[in-house]
Amino acid sequence: MLYSEKVMDHFQNPRNVGKMEDADGIGEVGNAKCGDIMKMYIKVEDGIISDVKFNTFGCGSAIATSSMATEMIKGKSIDEALQLSNKAVVEALDGLPTNKIHCSVLAEEAVKAAVKDYYDKNNIAYDKELFKDDVHNMNEHK
Ligand code: FES
Repeated sequence: MLYSEKVMDHFQNPRNVGKMEDADGIGEVGNAKCGDIMKMYIKVEDGIISDVKFNTFGCGSAIATSSMATEMIKGKSIDEALQLSNKAVVEALDGLPTNKIHCSVLAEEAVKAAVKDYYDKNNIAYDKELFKDDVHNMNEHK
């Protein structure tokens, strides 16, 4: 079996799918190679991510990893969300085939881009180093 049961479950029944009208931060990222795009919306209350939604125009692994990522950051502090690594998402899904790891990177980047957008919109100072790997961030291109 190429995909774990958890991957199949999150692919077939993705959690937190949709758009958020009153989002506090929106992150849009894409992978130039496969052309997949992911959009992540967060609602922040007292430094806690109280709600999160995502949309992805992407492959099954992109759907499964972003679904898992939303579950992992919901109810967590922003700092904890920023620490979410694609590796942790892959582990929570009981693994992904090697050629699908980049899909989980997209999920991590989408979370980071949403937090960055929240910081920018609220004029919150942050360490730019935190986002320096964020090469696929599409927010800047709008
Ligand atoms: Fe590119 Fe999955 S194939 S995100």
